[in-house]
Amino acid sequence: MPFTAAIVGSGIALPAHAVTNEELSKTVDTSDEWITERTGIRQRYVAAEGQYTSDLAAEAARNAIADAGLESGDIDLIIVATATPDLTFPATAAIVQAKLGVKQGAAFDVNAVCTGFVYALSIAEKFLISGQNKTAVIIGAETFSRILDWEDRRTCVLFGDGAGAFVMTRKTVEEAGDRTIKASHLRCDGSMVDLLYTDGGVSTTGKAGHVKMEGNKVFREAVDRISGAMVETAKIADIALSEVDWFVPHQANQRIIGGVVRKLGIDGDKVVATIGQHGNTSAASIPLAFHTARDDGRIKKGDLIMIEGMGGGLTWGAALFRF
Ligand code: UT7
Repeated sequence: MPFTAAIVGSGIALPAHAVTNEELSKTVDTSDEWITERTGIRQRYVAAEGQYTSDLAAEAARNAIADAGLESGDIDLIIVATATPDLTFPATAAIVQAKLGVKQGAAFDVNAVCTGFVYALSIAEKFLISGQNKTAVIIGAETFSRILDWEDRRTCVLFGDGAGAFVMTRKTVEEAGDRTIKASHLRCDGSMVDLLYTDGGVSTTGKAGHVKMEGNKVFREAVDRISGAMVETAKIADIALSEVDWFVPHQANQRIIGGVVRKLGIDGDKVVATIGQHGNTSAASIPLAFHTARDDGRIKKGDLIMIEGMGGGLTWGAALFRF
């Protein structure tokens, strides 16, 4: 019996404390005007002391599992997309598994930085379709505040903390009907590592390091690569971009989102932008935006959704599904 994969729930978690641009400009040489005009960001959430990536991830997962009408005991695959794991090892997914009280199945992390959630969704789909697993929770979770140089205004104003999760289930083609993952397209070009990276790591400096970014150069790569992945994904699914109900992009910069809208001639009213409230939360940004748009009534069951993003690596990609 051929299997397919469906998204049956979503959930998010945010730290309690939001830092506004105004607040940030008291400690960093920046201004609300510069940040808003150049990026669209108005505030970002910052995890409390002692609040880890796994805490945000587990909370988002619990919310998604409840939203799906399931219980932790139903989960047999946990994938955490993160570039800010709790520990060097074990995987944050293993820690999340324990926090959820799950005793079965597999759990591992994926690091594709800001494209991590698209990678996780595509990987989970394969595990479900193969029949190996039945119910997956995929989580994008980050505490980027821990790897920012808070004196570097070029990076510290951009990023925030948070987590978002989807529950995905294996279904027979008949059970799922049209509500399945339609296509995904994942890319990486490692020759551009130097554009966005941390200046540290386990096997190099022994420390996590800080985010370094050639913002301008990353910006110039973004629109073309993201648009290309979206077109390719639509082509694989044999669906026109005009049929998509909601585009849920990675939230890096409002101007990048606008550039993609113009390049592809898509309707800007169909694009979910939450960068103003969350900042760039790396792997968490897509599920955070998706769930926010569900919560406020924009995204409804049955809508055709395209997610897309680009990040360190460089990695980029897109996926298309009917929710
Ligand atoms: O999520 C992963 C992927 N990441 C991205 O896609 C991010 C892509 N890049 C960007 O979004 C943009 O390049 C940034 C928002 C990072 C920067 O915007 P920009 O328009 O490319 O600015 P810039 O780097 O060219 O800097 C322009 C000026 C510079 O001053 P000078 O040299 O012209 O005097 C910077 O020093 O803005 C200055 N600047 C700032 N000023 C106030 C840079 N950061 C700040 C700041 N506050 N926070």
